[in-house]
Amino acid sequence: MVMVDLHCHLLPGVDDGSKDMATSLRLAKEATANGITHALLTPHHMNGRYVNHKQDVIRRTREFQEELRAHGIPLTVFPGQEVRINGQLLEALDHDDILFADADGRYLMLEFPDDDVPHYTGRMVFDLQQRGIVPVIVHPERNTKIMAKPELLYELLQRGCLSQITASSYVGTFGKKVERFSRQLIAAGQGYLFASDAHDLPGRKYELRQAFEKLQREFGARLAEQYSYNARAIINGEDVQPNRMKPLKKKKFWLF
Ligand SMILES: [Fe+2]
Repeated sequence: MVMVDLHCHLLPGVDDGSKDMATSLRLAKEATANGITHALLTPHHMNGRYVNHKQDVIRRTREFQEELRAHGIPLTVFPGQEVRINGQLLEALDHDDILFADADGRYLMLEFPDDDVPHYTGRMVFDLQQRGIVPVIVHPERNTKIMAKPELLYELLQRGCLSQITASSYVGTFGKKVERFSRQLIAAGQGYLFASDAHDLPGRKYELRQAFEKLQREFGARLAEQYSYNARAIINGEDVQPNRMKPLKKKKFWLF
């Protein structure tokens, strides 16, 4: 069975993910033990700390694939980037320095700062869409601004963006609040897929299988299949069916 992970930091020594090849190979083994067959490698790009140019990522991904093969690890890897929204993004696209989730340049794994949805986001999303690009917003469930104002995400999704919920968020690794918010987004049709966002950090394990089991338990097999299918469709550059969505209810904080 094919299982696609669209977000992970497995490339050795390029960002805050894996520090060396031995670690990368260990993480790759953990990925396959979790049922993952195909992984998009998404080092941070243009996030103020890391720049990982397209051609470097392509070359490093090829080298990593060779290592995987040499070690008999059945994981197919593709070059990608977790692109931080920034004022130079369109310029970087013009300079062909951006990697997409698919080979045809349709789906872009787009990250916001942890605590903000920049004021120019709407305009940037519009400009990307004008170029035929579909932004996939990564881990909105961990963004403190979106947690406080979920309508910011709802509006972007209504305008055609997709969203990637991190598996660990939904299973509770980042705490109850993030877990609850993940569930609320899923219940409201505001999630499209799971990814691992695997780093080599303490307490950050592959939890994709657990997330799928939980999704199946809480929301049924059909939604779990849809999430898995969406990740496959994105990496293949195929259409993703828009969810039937509703806004999150305003918090009734006087209830307990
Ligand atoms: Fe990431």
